[in-house]
Amino acid sequence: MSDLIGLQTLSEKPTRLDQSQLKLNFSEAAVSQLEEIKSHYPSEKAAILPALWIAQREYGGFLSSEAIAEVAHRLHRAYAEVEGVATFYSMYNTRHKPGKHKLEVCTCLSCHVNGAYRILDLIEKKLGIRPNETTEDGLFTLEEVECLNACDRAVVMQVGDSYYGPLTESLLDTIIADLKSRTESTVIQMADEIVKVHLPESAV
Ligand code: FES
Repeated sequence: MSDLIGLQTLSEKPTRLDQSQLKLNFSEAAVSQLEEIKSHYPSEKAAILPALWIAQREYGGFLSSEAIAEVAHRLHRAYAEVEGVATFYSMYNTRHKPGKHKLEVCTCLSCHVNGAYRILDLIEKKLGIRPNETTEDGLFTLEEVECLNACDRAVVMQVGDSYYGPLTESLLDTIIADLKSRTESTVIQMADEIVKVHLPESAV
């Protein structure tokens, strides 16, 4: 564990984390899921991606420095290595804690020419937030993303594991009303679904 490194925020310089400071927050179920997943790979390093999905679920949808440190600890990897993987992929939430639902609007070429910025503008006005911001009630985070590989449905938005498009104002209103009525977080729900994909049916 000598190479375990901790951060207070991802923008700060990493500092060595005394092992006694490490707090482990994975539930018993998460620990056994990780053990099951690890058994499918030749090395613990190969399990970093699914382990990060477990952490994203267990830490409320956000890979804080503590969450990354726990993954590093459980996989016997350096903090910097796990942090490098987590920050490379935009599907891991490392920059800020997202709201209950993350609205990811594609503004790439096909969506752009079909009015992505008009849609983004509409969402901004309806929710009162700009990209990378979260509503005060913690319900919605807005993000601008690269091509979602559903260009035939431009303009496309991803929320959790659902794609919506072509977006119109009335469809947006329906989606927002539906999300407001849900009890579960689509951010955490998606992390859980991805974890399950890595498990045999008997372990789900
Ligand atoms: S350009 Fe938006 S989904 Fe491809």
